[in-house]
Amino acid sequence: MPRPSKGVIPLYEFTVNGKVVQTEKDMKLLPFLREELGLTSVKNGCSQGACGTCTVIVDGKAVKSCVLSTSKTVGKHILTCEGLSKAERDVWAYAFSKCGAVQCGFCTPGMIMACKALVEHNSRPGREDVVKAIRGNLCRCTGYKKLSTERFWRRECCASTFPYHRRKPTAPWVSG
Ligand code: FES
Ligand code: FES
Repeated sequence: MPRPSKGVIPLYEFTVNGKVVQTEKDMKLLPFLREELGLTSVKNGCSQGACGTCTVIVDGKAVKSCVLSTSKTVGKHILTCEGLSKAERDVWAYAFSKCGAVQCGFCTPGMIMACKALVEHNSRPGREDVVKAIRGNLCRCTGYKKLSTERFWRRECCASTFPYHRRKPTAPWVSG
């Protein structure tokens, strides 16, 4: 990013859920999303990059928003759960609830972002891929264990979630 001239306040511009936003504040993305934009699906579990509840998708990758500054997001595209279509939100909600992968729900938005980042890049995730994708997301209710099961990805998630991609589920577990 070009260095601003002396005395000129830098303006950081990036896209959040398809809308261009600008700010003069160089602050962590997590409070910016929650407090400035009202995107409260992004949860603050630790503010230290340790729990993953603040996970958002930045240019296609799952990122912990509490460790990223607005000055480092210039020109990037950020997605939170609020930016998902209703249809996509519904199928993720169905998959999580049907498999018992949600209890208190505090970790769920971050888990969804981690899972979405996974399937966007890997339409054939195996168990190890899933475990790796959600390893930075802690769940005190142990719901994350359900996410790495065949049931979630075969019957509940793939069978219901993949239609929004307009393609057949191709995960290895689906064929069994
Ligand atoms: S709030 Fe960001 S990792 Fe915990
Ligand atoms: S469902 Fe409660 S922390 Fe994950």
